Amino acid sequence: MDAFLIRGPSRLAGTVPVSGAKNAALPALAAALLTAQPVGLESVPAVADIRTMQKLLTGMGVSVALSPGGGVSLSAHDVRSTEAPYDLVRTMRASILVLGPLLSRFGEAWVSLPGGCAIGVRPVDLHVKAFEAMGARVAVEKGYIHAHVSRVGTLAGRLQGTTIRFPTVTVTGTENVLLAATLARGTTRIQNAALEPEVVDLARLLRKMGASISGEGTSTVVVEGVERLSGTGSAPHVVVPDRIEAGTYLAAGALTAGDVTVAGARASDLPAFLSALAAAGASVEETESGVRVRRDGPLRPVDLATGPHPGFPTDLQAQFMALMTQAEGTSRIAETIFENRFLHAVELVRLGAGIDVEGHTATVHGPSRLQGAPVTASDLRASAALVLAGLVAEGETLVRRIYHLDRGYSGMEGKLTALGAGVERVSG
Ligand code: UD1
Repeated sequence: MDAFLIRGPSRLAGTVPVSGAKNAALPALAAALLTAQPVGLESVPAVADIRTMQKLLTGMGVSVALSPGGGVSLSAHDVRSTEAPYDLVRTMRASILVLGPLLSRFGEAWVSLPGGCAIGVRPVDLHVKAFEAMGARVAVEKGYIHAHVSRVGTLAGRLQGTTIRFPTVTVTGTENVLLAATLARGTTRIQNAALEPEVVDLARLLRKMGASISGEGTSTVVVEGVERLSGTGSAPHVVVPDRIEAGTYLAAGALTAGDVTVAGARASDLPAFLSALAAAGASVEETESGVRVRRDGPLRPVDLATGPHPGFPTDLQAQFMALMTQAEGTSRIAETIFENRFLHAVELVRLGAGIDVEGHTATVHGPSRLQGAPVTASDLRASAALVLAGLVAEGETLVRRIYHLDRGYSGMEGKLTALGAGVERVSG
C-alpha cells in the first residue's frame, strides 16, 4: 500500500495549477446516462473516484474514451444494465448519483446500498424519499436499492415532477433529483436545494444538453422536464475548478509561512474558507491567475463551524485543524455536517498537537511543536490534514493508507514538491 514520506519542516512557495473538481465531475459523468448522444467533458481530474465512476458506467454499457489532459467522451447509446454493483459502490458513496439518471431514462435502477463509511452513517434516505415523491417505487432487495417506475404498456415509466423539500441540505441529493427531473413529466421544484458550485456546474451541463432549469445556486431550483436530452455537441463541458483542492494548497501556504498561488482557483467559490485564512493572519489575494496566500506574521486562532455553502466547507475542516495546531492560542472547530469527522484529530495528536474533541467540537490548543511520526489516514480529507501537518513537523512523517488521498487529489506529491516540500510516494 502506498504511503507518503514527508521530510519537514518546509516553507512552500510558488504556483500550482488547480485540477477540475472531482465533486463536479462525478455528477457530470453520471449525466451522460441521460442521453443516447455523446457527452464530452473537459478538466476531469485523474483521481481514483473518477476511475470508479468510469468503471461503474462502463459496466452498464456506456462507452468511455479518455483523452490526455482530462478530456472524457461518453456515449450511453447502448446501455445494457441498470445496476450499480456493491464492489464499486462500497468504495465510493457518490455512486448513488447514477440512481436518478437511470430511473428517469430507463424507468428502473438497482444501486447497491453504500453501507457504512469512516465519517459517519451518511444515509441516502433523502434521495430515496425524493424519488418516491416523484412516483418511483423503491424497495431494498438483497442489499440493493431497487427503484422503478411502472411501465405504461410497452413504454418505460416516467417520473412525475413534483415539489421536493429537503429537510436538510444535501449536495448529492440535490444533484440526483436535478439529474432525474430533467426527463420527468412536468415541473420539479427542489426546495432547500444545495447551493454548492458543483450543483451550479451540473445545471450548466444539463442546460447545454437541452434541459430546462432555473434557480441553480439559490435554495429553489425549478426544472421543467423534457422528452429527451441531447449530448454536448461540439462544445464539451469544462468542469469547474476544485475548490477543495485549491483550499488545501492555500492552507499549506498559510501553514508553512509560505507564498502559494493556486492558478485557476476562484475566490468566489471559497468565501468562508478564505475569510478564515485571513482571520488567521494570512494575506489572501485574488490575482489574475488564481488565488494567492502569503503569511509573514504569527498565526492567530480562529473559531469556526462547518456549514453548507457558502459556509465553511466540511471538506476543508481537517486541513484547517492542521493549520490551527500552529496558531498562537486556542481555537474551536465545530463540525455540523457529518458526525465522526474528527478521526484526523487523534492522528494529529500523535504528531504532537494539543486537541480535545467533545461531541461535535474540537478544541485546538496551539501552537504545538510537531514531530514527525508514522500516522494513518482514515478518509480523504483527513489524509490531506496529515500531509499538511507533516509539512511543518520536524523530521520524517509517514502518512499511511494514502489510497484515501488518491481518491480525490491528483498528483499531490508532485504539486507539493513543485512548491518546495519534501514529499515522496513510498510503499509502506
Ligand atoms: C457531498 C460531497 C462531500 C461533502 C458533502 C458536504 C460529493 C461527491 N461529495 O457529499 O465531499 O463532504 O457533500 O459538503 O459531492 N444526509 C442524510 N440523508 C441523505 C443524504 C444526506 O441524512 O439521504 C445527511 C448526511 O448524513 C449529512 C448531510 O445530510 O449529515 C449532508 O450530506 P450531503 O450533502 O448529502 O453529502 P454528500 O452529498 O454525500
